[in-house]
Amino acid sequence: MLVSAKEMLEKARDGKYAVGQFNINNLEWTKAILLTAEELKSPVILGVSEGAGKYMTGYKTVAAMVSAMIEELKITVPVALHLDHGSYEGCYKCIEAGFSSIMFDGSHYPIEENVEKTKELVAVCAEKGLSLEAEVGSIGGEEDGVVGMGECADPNECKMIADLGVTMLAAGIGNIHGKYPENWAGLSFETLEAVNNAVGNMPLVLHGGTGIPADMIKKAISLGVAKINVNTECQLSFAAATREYIEAGKDQQGKGFDPRKLLAPGTEAIKATVKEKMELFGSIGKA
Ligand code: 13P
Repeated sequence: MLVSAKEMLEKARDGKYAVGQFNINNLEWTKAILLTAEELKSPVILGVSEGAGKYMTGYKTVAAMVSAMIEELKITVPVALHLDHGSYEGCYKCIEAGFSSIMFDGSHYPIEENVEKTKELVAVCAEKGLSLEAEVGSIGGEEDGVVGMGECADPNECKMIADLGVTMLAAGIGNIHGKYPENWAGLSFETLEAVNNAVGNMPLVLHGGTGIPADMIKKAISLGVAKINVNTECQLSFAAATREYIEAGKDQQGKGFDPRKLLAPGTEAIKATVKEKMELFGSIGKA
């Protein structure tokens, strides 16, 4: 059964570890992440971007697939199905489709509009028992080949949004999606500390989990981060394993083409990536 991310994140915050959000794109990734979480007895959050939702033919398909997989694979650890960087409209679609957790990314709106829309969604999610993530201070990343540096959130704005009653808050602290550039300045712990002091006991979310050094991850967890998002690293390990398989000529055995075999090495690679992250985040055995 899908659960809200509230309880798992409050436990993580109190226990000084973080729950991983791993983004899904298809059946293979979803299965790999669920099986790894079950094997390691770790809570897990499956992230779905709006693009991935569209690719998988819509949020209803995703919710139905994930719910059925939890049942068929006999998954017992807590699993939240979470919309990643949702638009205002996307949030309502996922609520209707049966997601158990939503991120409303209003960071690109003026703060007043972000507050207004987040407030409305807090009420809707509370009524349905869903967890809600909000964002303040945009998270950088690659756009049209240009890598933008992550913006640092204003702690006062973070407090305004946190006080609305969201479950968790993503605050920009110099983190970016995708690979970090050579000249990346690192996470701003000064900002994280100020945000953490401003928002009280709220679980904080660290986006852009790919490529952040282990010591920075650990320090971020000690300063209130309870959820860490990982996407690019799964893409890279999946692609590398698939490429290696094809380059070794193993996809053509003279017996026809078997897509299940072709996708197997990548799926195993995702399992290894998820395991490595769960070890680093400290969530193993916490289900
Ligand atoms: P990465 O792609 O950098 O791992 O970031 C994932 C993320 O933050 C999704 O919201």
